[in-house]
Amino acid sequence: MTKKIKCIYCSEKLYKKEYIYHLETEHTYQYEELINRIVELNNEGYTIKEIEEYVNLPEKHIYNKLEILREEKEKYNVKKPLKITNWEPKDFELEATTVWSFPDRGKWATHSGKYRGNWSPYIPRNVILRYSQKNDVVLDQFLGSGTTLIEAKLLERKGIGVDINPDAIKIAKENLRFKKNYEYEPTIYNADARNLNLIKDNSIDLICTHPPYANIIKYSEGIKDDLSHFDIDEFIEEMGKVAKESYRVLKEGKYCAILIGDTRRNKHMVPLGFKVMQEFLNAGFLLKETIIKEQHNCKATGLWYRRSIEYNFLLIAHEYLFVFRKPEE
Ligand SMILES: C[S@@+](CC[C@H](N)C(=O)[O-])C[C@H]1O[C@@H](n2cnc3c(N)ncnc32)[C@H](O)[C@@H]1O
Ligand SMILES: [Zn+2]
Repeated sequence: MTKKIKCIYCSEKLYKKEYIYHLETEHTYQYEELINRIVELNNEGYTIKEIEEYVNLPEKHIYNKLEILREEKEKYNVKKPLKITNWEPKDFELEATTVWSFPDRGKWATHSGKYRGNWSPYIPRNVILRYSQKNDVVLDQFLGSGTTLIEAKLLERKGIGVDINPDAIKIAKENLRFKKNYEYEPTIYNADARNLNLIKDNSIDLICTHPPYANIIKYSEGIKDDLSHFDIDEFIEEMGKVAKESYRVLKEGKYCAILIGDTRRNKHMVPLGFKVMQEFLNAGFLLKETIIKEQHNCKATGLWYRRSIEYNFLLIAHEYLFVFRKPEE
């Protein structure tokens, strides 16, 4: 038996699921106020669960009501309700070897696999926990959908995000909408990773980032500074500029982690990963770790399996996570 609750306006006892209908019909004015409050909390970034605690209505009703109001656009401007089931991964353990593999990519908080080419939140979580402290400043200058900054915010670091594409920024802001102590609200710039003049020298505690892999996946159309429009040789040169800027903004003794993969052209491998690593070494960094990250989206089945045999090549199923350290002078 579900317990009955007492109406706060007339003291009638009702089942929780009848309550909203009761308010709607018996206390029209108060009901309108309540809905305004729900919309306000939702738009401020409270989750359905948190709103439930405020207004004492069932989660499902709050969610459905918000969805209905979202469609009736004239009356309210309702943001997408935040339905979050877990704030953290279950049974999380730090990686301890140089091979990382996350078959289940991770769906806690507002993470989802929707942004094309986004990285598993397990990667920034591991990097942030290993190479930074609470209250540190964490930079991701290829922000994308905001995966790194979501982790930074959850782990109480101050995030700075940069992306060249205003659409990515919109998505990242939406994903970062959840409430947390205001100190950990990230700062986000629509800017170029090759020129971080908004960020002071020696001011960042950790860089954790995931650039495009030359033009293997294009992230935009018509944004000329988008590095996913550059072919391999030019891309590597441009990544040299990114390495120099990373070096400039990072504090001495601190770490810079970057995920990058290789590619194939015609019949041969192009060691894009190693070439980018070399650019970071040239900028003055020391190599702290080379981590192999297994890729799970590459299926050695069907057509690709047959091709691998027929043309005699292996399907690339790994990327590199290089961790660099800026030496003390
Ligand atoms: C691999 S995605 C990052 C995905 C991100 N880690 C995530 O989980 O969503 C690369 C991002 O780099 C951005 N980008 C490309 N060129 C850039 C540039 N010159 N400066 C800053 N960002 C750039 C793209 O818009 C894209 O969002
Ligand atoms: Zn009542």
